[in-house]
Amino acid sequence: MSGSPVDAVVFDAYGTLFDVHAAMARHARRLGESWPSVSALWRQKQLEYAWVTSLTGPEHWRDFEALTREALHVALNWNGGAETRLVEDLMAAYRALPAYDDARTALAALRGAGIGTAILSNGSRAMLADAVAASQLGPLLDHVLSADAVRVFKPDPRVYRLAEDAFHRHCSRIGFVSANAWDARAAAAYGFRTVWVNRINQPTEFAMHQIAHLAADLDAVPAFFLP
Ligand code: LAC
Repeated sequence: MSGSPVDAVVFDAYGTLFDVHAAMARHARRLGESWPSVSALWRQKQLEYAWVTSLTGPEHWRDFEALTREALHVALNWNGGAETRLVEDLMAAYRALPAYDDARTALAALRGAGIGTAILSNGSRAMLADAVAASQLGPLLDHVLSADAVRVFKPDPRVYRLAEDAFHRHCSRIGFVSANAWDARAAAAYGFRTVWVNRINQPTEFAMHQIAHLAADLDAVPAFFLP
């Protein structure tokens, strides 16, 4: 949490740069009024399956897109049924999630100061490529790093190491930004200069104020890292 400048800032993708609930919001009429809780369950199951996959070993590896699809089936079945057409439309929407409005300005401010930028995500390479293309964030990113490269998911340290390898920098010279408390907690433990983005004023977890900077949105992020 020192104030020294960094050489690069790495962003989590889902929930941090991209609004994961936009897919179900887009198809809200077909899901009914409980769609926000169905979307929350989808997200929770997606994360749970990623962690179980990591812990059960590489021979059981399935990429994040497969796990996202499986989580979607489960969430929809809780809501009355996983009709094929709806599953496909939601997966297509997930592949083209919009970026939050402040993603572009934060990335541009960092790059304008000569700081490298990247995504480091559990998302598969294909999903991330589609989301970056849909949101047109590509020109603002030096790297899009996927857990596919190591076939294990965050918070395993092998995934965080991808950022050090990509920028050829020690973690103490790299900032890490996530809206997911579990991810910020693990990134800080790894040694990154970490910001937890708490957009919806969630209660603090993991004694976050002791291990990370806290930001209400991405607009507040560059100030933590500029020289
Ligand atoms: C990511 C998800 C898990 O790694 O937030 O992008």
